[in-house]
Amino acid sequence: MTLMGDVNTFINGDYTTVEKAYLHIEDRGMLFGDGIYEFARCYVDGIPFQMEEHLQRLKNSAKAIDLELPYTGPEIKDIVGELLEKCGAKQAGIYIQATRGLNMPRTHHFPRVVKPSFFIIVRELEPEPPEFMVDGVKAILLPDQRWTRCDIKSLNLLPNILAKEKAVREGAYEAIFYRDFGVTEGSSSSVFAVFDGRIYTTPAGEWILPGVTSHTVVQLASRAGYSVHFEFIPREKLYKADELFITSSRLDIVPVSTLYDTPIGSGKPGPLTRALKEAFQAFARGQA
Ligand SMILES: Cc1ncc(COP(=O)(O)O)c(C=O)c1O
Repeated sequence: MTLMGDVNTFINGDYTTVEKAYLHIEDRGMLFGDGIYEFARCYVDGIPFQMEEHLQRLKNSAKAIDLELPYTGPEIKDIVGELLEKCGAKQAGIYIQATRGLNMPRTHHFPRVVKPSFFIIVRELEPEPPEFMVDGVKAILLPDQRWTRCDIKSLNLLPNILAKEKAVREGAYEAIFYRDFGVTEGSSSSVFAVFDGRIYTTPAGEWILPGVTSHTVVQLASRAGYSVHFEFIPREKLYKADELFITSSRLDIVPVSTLYDTPIGSGKPGPLTRALKEAFQAFARGQA
């Protein structure tokens, strides 16, 4: 377990405790949400899972906002390794954030000299609630009010957090976004639906974050012989899915058993979702 006082944070060159880690209030991350982040996790013995994919996405996000990361991929991996060792977290969550740094006084345009802020926090994760795989979770559907570069893992998460809060207030676990042309993704997850034994998920592009977990799920499903289709599912059709599930690095696969109060399929986690969950866990534990 990560305890108060454990060295679990790296910030702008220093290893410290999360309680002692501070950024200036005129950091552009604070002023404008001018930054990007990543979240990865460990399944076994403090070994980061799919770190290369997460680092690649971090680099892509940084490039997309014209931000030069202060550390290379191998350096970030070393820092994460050091933090995991220092705090002893096993099933750890790894949060990485980079911003465009201090901007004093505040200007909308980039400061003439950019010194990015960079930090990583490593923490033991709470285990997945066991009832998720017994009962599934409830989701709600909300219009996607985000911008058109959802492929960037930007710090600007207001639409996502407002949607999640709405879900929580309705007793749901996730809010699934839709646009005119169909479902995009969850407020912090990718979305999959099953119709007649076929798996459907949103095509990659600027409307969604390219999920590291969803990519693995697609590979595992294809390897197991399921056909996977990349299509925007009309939101009304989602209610008629045989199975529905969401994926993220935090909780890999979570079955969605009701949309508002409408049961999906049998209203319990379906067979394909359960099989994929098992395959994912075996993969994550074997190949972390
Ligand atoms: C908007 C959004 N989509 C999808 C995902 C899932 O991505 P990953 O599987 O890489 O964690 C996340 C995860 O945080 C997210 O915030």
